[in-house]
Order: sequence, then structure tokens, then C-alpha cells
Amino acid sequence: MEKQFPENFLWGASSSAFQIEGGWEEDGKGKTVADFNSFKRSHIQADSKVASDFYHNWREDILLMKELGLKIYRFSIAWARIIPDGDGEVNLKGVEFYNQVIDCLLENDIMPFITLYHFDLPYALVEKYNGWESRECVYAFERYAKICFEAYGDRVKYWQVHNEQNLMVRVDERMNIYVDDAWEADRMRAQMDYHMFLAHALAVNACHSLVKDGKIGPAVSSTCTYPYSNKPEDVWAAKMNDWFKTNYCLDIHFTGEYPGYYMRYLKLRNIVPVMEEGDKELLKSAKMDYIALNYYRTLCARYLPVDEEHPEGSRVCRTNEVDFDQYGYFRDEKNINLLASEYGAQIDPMGLRIVLNEYYQRYRLPLIITENGLGTGDILTEDKKVHDDYRIAYLRDHIKACALAIEDGVELFGYSPWSVMDLLSSHQGFKKRYGFIYVDRDDHDLKQLERIRKDSFYWYKEVIETNGESI
Ligand code: BG6
Repeated sequence: MEKQFPENFLWGASSSAFQIEGGWEEDGKGKTVADFNSFKRSHIQADSKVASDFYHNWREDILLMKELGLKIYRFSIAWARIIPDGDGEVNLKGVEFYNQVIDCLLENDIMPFITLYHFDLPYALVEKYNGWESRECVYAFERYAKICFEAYGDRVKYWQVHNEQNLMVRVDERMNIYVDDAWEADRMRAQMDYHMFLAHALAVNACHSLVKDGKIGPAVSSTCTYPYSNKPEDVWAAKMNDWFKTNYCLDIHFTGEYPGYYMRYLKLRNIVPVMEEGDKELLKSAKMDYIALNYYRTLCARYLPVDEEHPEGSRVCRTNEVDFDQYGYFRDEKNINLLASEYGAQIDPMGLRIVLNEYYQRYRLPLIITENGLGTGDILTEDKKVHDDYRIAYLRDHIKACALAIEDGVELFGYSPWSVMDLLSSHQGFKKRYGFIYVDRDDHDLKQLERIRKDSFYWYKEVIETNGESI
């Protein structure tokens, strides 16, 4: 392949705290919403108590990252390790844990690329304030972010605020929305979303004032939706699906204003969030430096007409909370032109090229991919190998799409797939694996948690060594 990646391109790999760390209550860490939900499912699958046990293996794991050749390691800090109850005392042991991880990464020439909040709201904030529904949570987050910037900002220059706010607010268990009334759930969701936008803005501004040369941005769950047919209604539905599920979020980060189509929906549904004086100015003042995007799949949508039972704007979840349908807007459909993973994600490298071009043309900000990958069950052979050629094929095709997007003129400065090693899936326990490194455990049998390099590990190592030429 011709040389398409810039010299200083940031090849990386990613993880998140509750999915990799384990040690969930060690050294003072508080319980999080992610722990709570994983414990609820623990009769059927692994939970976050041990996960990949990075908390006890981080030195060895970082040496593996070095061997892989990573330029960046994208991971998250567990808010509840730093402040166990979310807004009370600081847990120095938690602060020290990440200090050691950061130092060890830097000693091994790996740049830490940190997310402040990846689905794991301290559970105490839910108990005290119902989490993001309250403004208290906004100020708690600002304080937590400042503590992180002050503790690590001398060494960490790249920060991400919320991981996938646009997806997180759609998943009720992440937000702790447990109400039967659909309208009330929508109202809470809209208010929580708004508070997260305020928290984002406060964190962006704090980073700029506390971290010398610090760069900060959001990590969004990205996708592109194709129309089910060329009927204008279906084209509109596809656009709406994208705008409602992703673009509204970036638009608000970018302009500081709710876009008209989104405000129209909030008004129609009578769920415009409570806003206070000064919020507008705050939202406008926070300027993100780059956009990180997590990309796995594309979607397909057709227009969903309203009926007597379902007024415009009401939503229904047929399969899961993430891909909800909305009356008067869109309904997600299967795209018969694409193959899907065993878990139903429609695989689409060209979609990534489209997304990169669209975001770059719309926002003109540097982009980085902080998640992309194939979640599937791997087979460990008797001689301890994992022949994951299917993962190599997935990643190769997506890296090629990145190269083409760069040729198209997109300013893409890094690629950090999911995940550095096998870790707890956000919903499917430990059998759904994404890593370059196999972690030998099952959902309920921890075994020795041995780390085994998969075929994709050696392949990606060469990709990094040759700056993408070997793919
Ligand atoms: C992203 C999340 O949405 O998708 C990760 O940021 C998650 O936390 C990843 O693990 C893959 O999803 P899943 O459900 O297969 O683990």
C-alpha cells in the first residue's frame, strides 16, 4: 500500500475502566452504575469485579502494549476510584494508581489518551441525586475533571470528556432510568443529556485553563444511516436517524446551541430541559479541539408514520434501547447489502470513509478514531493460539477506509481500535471478544487470566511498525 498515513500518526488501542480493571472495590473504590448493572447480569455472564484484572497486571500489560508498538493507549479513569462517592473525599490510592499507570506508559513511550467518564457514574451520585437528572452531578463532574487535570495534566495532554454521550443517554441502565411511563423516561433523558452537555463544557474550559497544551474533545458513537429506499420520506428518515442519534450531540458541542430539528422534537414531546441563566454562554464558550469517534457499523432506516396510538416523536424499542424507532421520524431496518457480525453489527468499511468525510466537512476539526473493532467469540487452540483472521480482515478494511479518507483530505490523526485486550463487553460478558490479546477466562471461570497474543496482535504490530504500509 502506498504511504498514506502521516509520519506522526497515532496508532493505538483502547479500553475502559470498568471493562478492563477489575479490583472494583479495592483500595477504596466506590461502586459505579456500570458495576451495578453488571452485577445484575452476573448469573448469566461475567461482571466487572475482576474483568481482565488490569488492576493487578498493569505492569505486564503495558509491556505487551509496548511490544505491540502502540503510540497511544486510550483508557478511562474510574471516577469512583478517584472520588468514591462522586463528590466527597478524594481517594489518594485511586489517584496514585493512575499516576503509576501514566508513568509506566510514558516510560514505555506510549502516550496516555484519557477519557474522563466511560459509562461508570459513581453509584452514590445516583443514590444522592438520581445522577445526571440533577445539576449537582454537573458540578461534581467539573470538580472530578479538575482533580484529574491537576493530578495528571503535567503528563497527559489528550483528554476526552464523556465516552459516547449520544449513545449513553439512550441506554436506560447507564443513566439509571427505571420508570414505566415512556414520556417521563424521555423527559428525564432530555434533562440528563442537557446536564451532560453542561458538564462537557465545564470540563473543556477547565482543561484549557489547567492543562498546558491540553487538547480535549468528545468521543461520540458514530454511524451513518442509509435510506431503505429512494423515497424522499426514507431519505429524510435516514438523515433524522443520524441527526437524532449522533449529529445533534456534535452540533451542540460545536455551536453551543440545540439545533432546530432537535428543539422542535423536544417541544413537540414537551420535554424541553430546564435551563438556567448563563448556561447558553457556557455552552458557547467551550471549544473542543478535536473529535474522537467510535465506529463499528452503519444503519438503515425508513420512515415510520404516526398512528393513533403513537404520536409524533414517541419512541419504541423493538430490539434494544440503542436502536430505537421514533414515530414520525425513522425505523431501523436491516441492510441486506451488508454482512453482519454474529452479534448483528452491520460491517461497513465504506461507511467509515463516509462518516470521516462528513464529520470533517461539517466541523473542520481534526478527527481520531478511538474505537473500531469486531466483537466475536475466539477459539483458543490447544497450542495456545488464536487464529483471528476474521478480525484482521475487519481491521484491514477499516484501516484502508481511513487511508482513503486521508486521501480525500480528512485530517485524521489517529486510529485506536477496540480493544487492546479482551475485556468485559458492555452487554455480553466475556464471550464477546475484541482484543489483540486473548485473556484466558470464561464468563464464570477465571482460570489463570493468562495473556495470549492473537494472530491479530502480530499483524497489527507490523501495521504500526510500517505506519500502515503493510496492511
Ligand atoms: C462502545 C463502547 O459503544 O462499544 C464500549 O464505548 C463497548 O464500551 C463497545 O465495549 C463495544 O460494545 P459491546 O457491547 O460489544 O461491548
